[in-house]
Amino acid sequence: AIATAVIGCKSGGGDTIKVGEFASLTGKEATFGTSSHEGTLLAVEQINAAGGVLGKKIELLTEDDQTKAGEPANAVNKLISKDGVIAILGEVASSRSLEAAPICQQNKIPMISPASTNPTLTKEGDYVFRVCFNDNFQGGALANFASGTLKAKKVAIFTDVKSDYSKGLAKSFKEKYATSGGQIGVELDFNGGDKDFKGQLTTIKNDAPDAIFLPGYYNDVALICIQAKQLGMNIPIFGGDGWESESLLTIGKEAMEGHYFSTHCSIEQPTPEMTSFVDAYKKRFNGKTPDAMAVLGYDSALVLADAIKRAGKTDGPALRDAIAATKDFSGASGKFSLNADRDAVKALVFIQIKGGKFTYNATVNP
Ligand code: PHE
Repeated sequence: AIATAVIGCKSGGGDTIKVGEFASLTGKEATFGTSSHEGTLLAVEQINAAGGVLGKKIELLTEDDQTKAGEPANAVNKLISKDGVIAILGEVASSRSLEAAPICQQNKIPMISPASTNPTLTKEGDYVFRVCFNDNFQGGALANFASGTLKAKKVAIFTDVKSDYSKGLAKSFKEKYATSGGQIGVELDFNGGDKDFKGQLTTIKNDAPDAIFLPGYYNDVALICIQAKQLGMNIPIFGGDGWESESLLTIGKEAMEGHYFSTHCSIEQPTPEMTSFVDAYKKRFNGKTPDAMAVLGYDSALVLADAIKRAGKTDGPALRDAIAATKDFSGASGKFSLNADRDAVKALVFIQIKGGKFTYNATVNP
């Protein structure tokens, strides 16, 4: 299952700049990869329409990792060894980015993740970057939200033990919430892809917390919220960016009402860059409204193109240094710089589901 999109490619080798991308275009988290890919593709098309970089067009080579462990390594090995890409863009889910990062690092090929927030990702080495905040920041913001906005004294935590993202976000939330005097109620696990959560939810119900922290992905989150409602649980459920997908609402419907999550940006609070991105995206993709993964996929490609221009060449070390120097970058997701840990320093937003819609609630600055 390999999808290759060649954009603005002239015939013959060497006269394009090859950029690799790996994404979950099919499988359980297909909306993640589809969105990030569309954003990335739009950026590459715009860059090429404006003449490309260093006098060459960018050729985007995209591999579908099918939402499957093991595939990111295959995809990235192929892109680097067989296709000869100069950089890699991807992935959304932390577990899959964590699989690819050591391979990029070892080959001195810069990797920019659009949306993986697990704190350990960029610790894989100095060739690994992200254009989003990490979960130390997100976990802290969620802890403040629980005590501040929700006024929760006791929070239960329900973690997807198959996901590095979920485990990492649960950990940073727990540390910050407990330090600020919050009480952690029962802590329960599930496996992403499970269908029946009633046993764990009953345990949570009996523990009577004020809220449930659920750092999961949209498909599992929607089923959990439906079953919590069926069990007559009326407490707020909240989570992080993994909730963001239109599918959260199409699966969860009225069971999502009133719940909250944090994420990267809100198209209800647009910057001029966001507005022009949203317009171009809708035009390119049949009126579809972009989500955070699309916005971040777009920014990951723009950051790379900007670094190639500043480096004046595409060899790994020079490109790495140029990406690391990214400062006050005006992306569609907002203005950000990359810090010494190669993480983006940027604001986060809270969304509440109201009237069946994602509704902007608040912004938290770094
Ligand atoms: N941050 C999530 C992860 O690291 C991925 C994600 C980003 C999901 C943005 C939805 C929106 O796994």
